[in-house]
Amino acid sequence: MKQIINDLYPYLKRYRKDYLIGIFSLVISAYFTTLAPAIIGQTIDALKNGDLNNQNVWLYVSKIVGAIAISSIAMILVRRTMLAASWEIQFDIRRDVFKHFSKLDADYFDRNRVGDMLTRLTADLNAVRMLFGPAIFQGISISLMMIFSFYRMFKINAALSLITLISVPLVTFVLFMLMRIVHKRYLKSQEQFSNISAMSQENFSGIRVVKGFGIEDREIHKFSVLNDEFIKRNLFLTRAEGPIHSLMDLIFGVILSLLVLLGGRYVLKGGNLSIGEFSAFILLYQRLQWPMIGLGWIANLFQRGSTSWNRLKEILETEPAISNDENTNYDLASIKGDIEFKNVSLEFNGQKVLDDLSFTLPEGQSLGITGKTGSGKTMIISLLSRIIEPSSGEILINGIDIKEYPLELLRRKIGLVPQEPYLFSDTIADNIAYGIPDGDNQAKVEEVAKIVQLSDDIKDFPEGYKTSLGERGVTLSGGQRQRTAMARAIIRDPEILILDDALSAVDTQTESLILSNLAEVAKNRTSIIIAHRLSAFKNTDKVLVLDFGKIVEQGSHEELLEKDGWYADIDRRQQLEKDLENA
Ligand SMILES: Nc1ncnc2c1ncn2[C@@H]1O[C@H](COP(=O)(O)OP(=O)(O)OP(=O)(O)O)[C@@H](O)[C@H]1O
Ligand SMILES: [Mg+2]
Repeated sequence: MKQIINDLYPYLKRYRKDYLIGIFSLVISAYFTTLAPAIIGQTIDALKNGDLNNQNVWLYVSKIVGAIAISSIAMILVRRTMLAASWEIQFDIRRDVFKHFSKLDADYFDRNRVGDMLTRLTADLNAVRMLFGPAIFQGISISLMMIFSFYRMFKINAALSLITLISVPLVTFVLFMLMRIVHKRYLKSQEQFSNISAMSQENFSGIRVVKGFGIEDREIHKFSVLNDEFIKRNLFLTRAEGPIHSLMDLIFGVILSLLVLLGGRYVLKGGNLSIGEFSAFILLYQRLQWPMIGLGWIANLFQRGSTSWNRLKEILETEPAISNDENTNYDLASIKGDIEFKNVSLEFNGQKVLDDLSFTLPEGQSLGITGKTGSGKTMIISLLSRIIEPSSGEILINGIDIKEYPLELLRRKIGLVPQEPYLFSDTIADNIAYGIPDGDNQAKVEEVAKIVQLSDDIKDFPEGYKTSLGERGVTLSGGQRQRTAMARAIIRDPEILILDDALSAVDTQTESLILSNLAEVAKNRTSIIIAHRLSAFKNTDKVLVLDFGKIVEQGSHEELLEKDGWYADIDRRQQLEKDLENA
C-alpha cells in the first residue's frame, strides 16, 4: 500500500491543486448533504408542535432546497477538478508506458504477445485511473459523509448511533469478502478476454496465411472454444455478483428494524427523542447505506488498481538490454563509414550463429554478403546497428567500438532496409518521409521514389503520393513495399546504407535499374548489400560468402567467379535459370 502511494505520488503531485479544491468541495458537500435531513426533522417537529405556518413554511423549504443545491454545486466542482485530474493522470501514465515500450529491445516484442501489451495499455491503465479518480474521490467523500452523519446522529441520540456505528465494519467486511471472490472471478474472465484479443489480433494480422491455407473453419472453431470459455467465466462471475445486492438489503433491513424498534420506544416514551429528531435520524441512516457499501467497493478498487499498477510497473522496470551506458562517449557526434568486425561470434542458447567473423569495409566502399538462408547475414546487420550484442569480439566504426557511440547517433547514421519492411497505415509519401523531420518533403520524396523506380507505380495510384496504405501497406505488392522501404532509408541520407535482401521481390530488370541508380547514391557512402541473387554484386567492391556463420569465400564478383567455388557454382545456376526464363 505504502509502496503504491510512493510510486504514484509523483503523478498525483502535478495535480495537487485539483485534488485540494476537490477535497474542499467534498467537505462542503458532505456538510450540506447531512444538513438536509436535520432540517427536515426540524420541519416535522415544527409541524407537530403547531409552529408551522404559511410564512415560515417557505423558510424551511428554502433551507432544505438551499442545502441540497449547495451540495450539488460542490459535487460538480469535484468532478471538474479531482475526476478530471484522474483522466490527466491516466494520460500521463499511458504516455510514460508507451515511451518506455518504445525504448525496449526488439527482442522484448518478440517474447510478448501484442494482445497482452494492448491489455496493459487499456484495461490495466483504466484500473489505475479508477484508483486515482473514483477510489480517492469516493474514499474521501465517504469518510466525510460518515464523519458528518455520525456527528449529527450522535447529537440526536447516542444509543441509536452506536447500533449504526457497530454495523459499519460488519457491512464493510462482508462486502469486502464477497467482492474478493468477485474480483478473482473477474480476473479469470479478463484473462480469457485477453486470450480472445490475442487470438483475434493474430488472426487479423495473419489473415493471408489463414485464408491461404483454407483453415478458416479451424480458426473459427478455436475462437468458439475460447468464446465459450469466456461466457462460462462470465456466468461464474455473475453468480457471485448477483446475491450481493440482496444480502446487503437484508443486513440494512435488519438494522433498520432495530432502529425503529428502539427509536420508536424512545419517541413513545416521550423522553429525549422527538418525532422530528427520529425522522432525521432515519433519513441520515439511509444516506449512510451507500457510503457503507462504498467502503467495500473502494477497498476493491484499491486492490484492482494496485494489481494493475504492479503489472504496469513490471513494464516500466524492464530495462532495455541495449542502451546508452557508462561506455557511451557523448562527444562522438558523427559517424563515417570505416567498418571492422574483429573475431565476432554470436550465440543463441549455446548455438553458434556467427563464428569468429572478421572483415573490414573501408569508408565509401560497398560490401556484398550472400550465403544460404540462415547462414547469419541478417545477424551481421543486427549487430552493426546494435539491435543485438555479440557474444564475443568487437565491432568498430572508424576504429571506435560501436558501444561508444550514442545509440541514437549510430542508428540514425545507418540507413537500413530490412528484410521484412513494415509500412504504416499512412500515405505513401509519409511512409517514405517517415524518418526525416516533418515539413514540405514532397520534392525529396519524389526524388528518392525515382531512384528506387517507384515513381511510375505511384503515378498509377488513385491519389498519387497521397494514396493511403492500409494497415501494413496491404495495398502494395511485395516489390512495391520493398522499394518504399528503400526510399525511406535513402531519403535520410545515411552514412552507411544497408539493404537486407531488399530486392528479392523485384524482377531482375527492375533490380538492375535500381542498382545502377543506387551506385550513384552509394558513391560516397559505405554500403552493404545482402542478396541471394548474385547479379546484385556486379558493382560491389567485395563480397563475403557465408556458411553456418563463417566466411567461406570472399573477394570481388570477378575474383569469386574465377575461384570456381560455391559462388561460381551458384552464379552458373542463376545464369541457367535466367536463360530458361528468357527462352
Ligand atoms: N533470437 C534468436 N534466437 C535464436 N536463434 C536465432 C535468433 N535470431 C536468429 N537466429 C538464428 O540465427 C541464424 C542466422 O539467422 P539470420 O537471420 O542471420 O539468417 P540469414 O542469413 O539472414 O537468412 P535469410 O537468407 O533467410 O535471411 C538462423 O539459424 C536463425 O534461426
Ligand atoms: Mg536474413
